[in-house]
Amino acid sequence: MTLARPSVCFVCLGNICRSPTAEGVFRHLLGQAGLDERVVVDSAGTGAYHLGKPPDRRAVAAARRRGIEVAGAARRFERADAERFDWVLAMDQENLADLRPLVGLGGRARLQLLRDFDPAAPPGASVPDPYYGGDAGFDEVVEQCLAACAGLLVRVRAEHGL
Ligand code: 4NP
Repeated sequence: MTLARPSVCFVCLGNICRSPTAEGVFRHLLGQAGLDERVVVDSAGTGAYHLGKPPDRRAVAAARRRGIEVAGAARRFERADAERFDWVLAMDQENLADLRPLVGLGGRARLQLLRDFDPAAPPGASVPDPYYGGDAGFDEVVEQCLAACAGLLVRVRAEHGL
């Protein structure tokens, strides 16, 4: 018998900028900790504008500047995901509000803002949508994801005994 691995899903609006970046950052940190095979990692969007598309090339480039790989194909977060994942991490307050009816209370998934896991971030802080801005916004997304995912990893390790 294999024990279920802890599972984490990062969620933004389009699943082409912020959540694939967070997914790549978390995979990167898991790799550094030698835990790549021990945690299931995915991402999804609350919207359906970009289904099947690869991550935005500006997000891929910003992550690569930090030595991090970002890949995948956009998909929408579905109600079933609330039972598949232990942790659902929203990028901003709008994502959180859109996810609440899907994730609900008493289900499997724990729903939180990603930046709740960054001790230096103010309460309720978001990872801002970089889509309509310049490259600096994408670099900022990577930095915010790095800080928050480091804290998330500590929590996941503690709660799941990794
Ligand atoms: P994401 O960024 O939610 O971080 O993937 C966005 C991507 C696309 C759009 C908005 C945000 N859009 O409106 O098309």
